[in-house]
Amino acid sequence: MTMELKGKTAIVTGASRGIGKALACTAASLGINLVIGARGIGPLTETANEIAKKYNVQVLPVACDVTKLADLENLVKAAKDKFGSINILINNAGVSSQYPFQEQPLEDLEKLAYTNYLGYVRLIRLVINDMIKDGHGAIINMVSGSTLCDPLPRNFIVYSSLKVGLKAFSKGLFWELRDKGIKVTSIMPGVTDTDLTGKLQEISTDTSRLMSTEAIENAVRFALTVPQNVCPLEISVINQQTPWTKPVIPFKQDHPGK
Ligand SMILES: NC(=O)c1ccc[n+]([C@@H]2O[C@H](COP(=O)([O-])OP(=O)(O)OC[C@H]3O[C@@H](n4cnc5c(N)ncnc54)[C@H](OP(=O)(O)O)[C@@H]3O)[C@@H](O)[C@H]2O)c1
Repeated sequence: MTMELKGKTAIVTGASRGIGKALACTAASLGINLVIGARGIGPLTETANEIAKKYNVQVLPVACDVTKLADLENLVKAAKDKFGSINILINNAGVSSQYPFQEQPLEDLEKLAYTNYLGYVRLIRLVINDMIKDGHGAIINMVSGSTLCDPLPRNFIVYSSLKVGLKAFSKGLFWELRDKGIKVTSIMPGVTDTDLTGKLQEISTDTSRLMSTEAIENAVRFALTVPQNVCPLEISVINQQTPWTKPVIPFKQDHPGK
C-alpha cells in the first residue's frame, strides 16, 4: 500500500529556486504541507506564497543556513510547532564550486563540506528519531550525476567526492533502518538548467545540453508514491548529452586510455 500523502508534512531545503523549488511544487501537488528553508528569506517567502496559492497547501518559509546547526534545529522546531510531525525530508540545498584542486580556495572546502554533506546528515539526524517513532518516513537526498563518473569530473572533485560520500551514507542509512519503515532515496540528476549551473564557467554556452527539472520532479514523485514496503534506493536521471560525457566545460574529460 502507498503512504497516504495528502496532509503529510515535508521539509524541503534550498527550496527558494532551482531544483528545490521544483520539488517543493511536486510535493505540494501531492497535497503535502511544506516547511521550506533557504538563507534568503525574501525569495523564500515569495516561493512559499506562490506554492500555497497554486496548490492549496500550507507552506511555512523558514530562514535557514544549512551549514549552521542552530538553524537546522530551528527549522525542525518550526516544522514540529506548526505541523506536529515531519514525515518527509527533501534534503536539497547545495552549492557548487569549479576549480582545479590546487587552486581551490581553502574556505570553499569547508563551505562545500558543511553545505553538501554535513548539512544533509545533521538534518537527517534531527528528524530521524521522530520518523522511527512514527514507524514511517521518507528521506530524499539530492546527490549528483557526477557521482556516476569514475574518475570524478575534473575540477569538481571536492563537490563530487562529498556527493559520493552522501550517496554512500544514504544507502547505509537505508540498510540500517530498513526494518523501521524509513525510505532513503538518493537522486542523481544530470546537469540541470538552474542558477547553480549558470555560474559554472562556459557551461551555459550550449544550454540545449542541460536538462530541465522535469525528470527530477518525476523521479521524486515516483519515490514518494511507490508502495510503503518498497524503497527506490537510487535514481539517476541523466541527460543524454551530459557535459561530463561530451564536455562543454573547456578542458579535456577523456577517460584514461583513450
Ligand atoms: N543544477 C544541477 O545541474 C545539479 C546537478 C546535480 C545535483 N544538483 C544538486 O541539486 C541541488 C540544488 O541545486 P540547484 O541547481 O537547484 O541550485 P540553485 O539553483 O543554486 O539553488 C540552490 C538553493 O539552495 C539554497 N542554498 C544554498 N546554500 C544554502 C545554505 N547554506 N543553506 C540553506 N540553503 C542554501 C539557495 O537559497 P539561498 O541562496 O537563499 O540560501 C537555493 O534555494 C544541490 O544540492 C546540487 O548540488 C544540481
